[in-house]
Amino acid sequence: MVDLHCHILPGIDDGASTMEDSLAMAESAIEDGITHVIATPHSSSEYYFDFARVRRLRDDLQSRIGDRLQLATGCDFHLNPENLKSLRKDPSPFCLNQRDYLLVEFNEISIPPGMDQTLHEIQLSGVRPIITHPERNRILQAHPERLKKWVRQGCFVQVTGGALTGDFGAVPQKDALQWIREGFVHFVASDAHNTRKRPLRLQPAYDVVVDQLGMEKASALFLDNPLAAFEGRELPHVPEIEEESPPPRRKRFFFF
Ligand SMILES: [Fe+2]
Repeated sequence: MVDLHCHILPGIDDGASTMEDSLAMAESAIEDGITHVIATPHSSSEYYFDFARVRRLRDDLQSRIGDRLQLATGCDFHLNPENLKSLRKDPSPFCLNQRDYLLVEFNEISIPPGMDQTLHEIQLSGVRPIITHPERNRILQAHPERLKKWVRQGCFVQVTGGALTGDFGAVPQKDALQWIREGFVHFVASDAHNTRKRPLRLQPAYDVVVDQLGMEKASALFLDNPLAAFEGRELPHVPEIEEESPPPRRKRFFFF
């Protein structure tokens, strides 16, 4: 499996604290059957994204773990004005494996104003946005049509493995499965932060998808699509989405 969202680099955000933590997370990934990991530290008002430092930490971890796990870097990109300015200048440091897919996050209780336009502008610059863990956003839980509109607009969606196994509660679990069923999800990733509560494992979520939706869907979400994003290719599995049907026309009554 290929994990394109995790916080495995040490001392850089709210993920791994020390190199020992990072190594334990890497060992957990290897044991779980993960072959490729993209380290995606936050870039937000809370955590400054220093690309040179991110690359140094990645190189250090890679040399310690050897070739049993392939490490790349990206970013958990918070949509704020400063970040967007930096993205306009040079998207490469933020993109997954410095290709053209970008993890886009917003917090769990709101959606930034002008989101439709912001996503559109990111796309126009040649970057392919991946909306991360929408199943945990209260507004999207209540109004999934907003998420579906972004997918129709050409954005992609990543749900978190832990949501599929119920770690975030019943609503995210139900929504994540429902949206996969409807074809609005393209990736499952760990969004791992540590070895305990949010570990670097995907197998339990993979088993849920196999059980509920079959092997082919699981392979698309955990292997084929994430590997294509890792390598900067078109995704092999993008379900056809039916256009939204217009609201029913109100019947007219004629009185003679
Ligand atoms: Fe994250």
